[in-house]
Amino acid sequence: MFHDRKILYSGMQATGNLTIGNYLGALKNWNSLNEEYDCLFGVMDLHSLTVRQNPAEFRQRARSLYTLYVASGLDPEKNCIYFQSHVSGHAELAWILDCFTYMGELNRMTQFKDKSAKHADNINAGLYTYPVLMAADILLYQSDVVPVGVDQKQHLEITRDIAGRFNGIYGDVFTIPEPYIGRQGAHVMSLQNPEKKMSKSDENPNASVYLLDDTDTIIRKFKRAVTDSDTQVRYAPEEKPGISNLIEIYAAAENKTFEEVEKEFEGKGYGDFKLAVGEAVASMLKPMQEKYKELSKEKSYIDSRIKENDEKAQYMADKTLRKVQKKVGLTERIR
Ligand code: TRP
Repeated sequence: MFHDRKILYSGMQATGNLTIGNYLGALKNWNSLNEEYDCLFGVMDLHSLTVRQNPAEFRQRARSLYTLYVASGLDPEKNCIYFQSHVSGHAELAWILDCFTYMGELNRMTQFKDKSAKHADNINAGLYTYPVLMAADILLYQSDVVPVGVDQKQHLEITRDIAGRFNGIYGDVFTIPEPYIGRQGAHVMSLQNPEKKMSKSDENPNASVYLLDDTDTIIRKFKRAVTDSDTQVRYAPEEKPGISNLIEIYAAAENKTFEEVEKEFEGKGYGDFKLAVGEAVASMLKPMQEKYKELSKEKSYIDSRIKENDEKAQYMADKTLRKVQKKVGLTERIR
């Protein structure tokens, strides 16, 4: 591992419970990436601290996210799956990169504006420099490609800008990462408001289907999904956002095209269709849920993988960090 192949980096925040949006939009597609790339997938727990967390719940959720990565099929012996907070280089590089990032740039980040509006009582400096920590995550491993959704594109762009600026001063220190342009995941919208992305932190539990929801819950949520008053199962995101979202989910779960789905439900009502989507999603999640249950009992297996991968990540990160420290003129360690 980690020789001549290109490096791919991604991760998710350990905030909230993963939804089928995270699965169909990202996780499912991460599974095949390691055929072509050396992959690192982080549990981004430092990023989660920008929002106040209950420590015991947070710790449990981060571990659960790690287990879900593995349960979804990512092999922790072929992919470096690790906790961001276990590799000290993330925070150390982030500080150095902070000094190469302009406030003007950070002021333009749309996610910062959105999140500050949402958490008006806790607009902390971490929320502001969030993109710099993300740049550090990516640059620390000399990543070549990063699969990110539309909402993270701007963060990848600032990462490229920071890396380019640094390289301009000190020579080729960082690999400039590219967005991953392979098969893109599905865009899953909220079941209660199909104009909005399905989110792990939605306050309405009926808006999102969580990866660990049981079959009855899943079916109930799809039955209640907001749709239009028409009866035709037809993909038309502007005109029929609710039904189009269900078509997108069903197509992704069953590996079908939108046209195939339309044909399958021609002449059938929304009730039949919603039930079919619920059943398809439940059976898609079943193997992962079973694996998750099994893995949750195998504490020492997961512990060993965490330890191994932490060390691997730490080794790679240290290499970049030492180089950066030397380039900017920090005093070298005496051995
Ligand atoms: N900000 C990302 C999100 O909320 C998570 C993340 C943190 C990430 N660091 C990253 C994703 C580095 C890709 C690469 O989805």
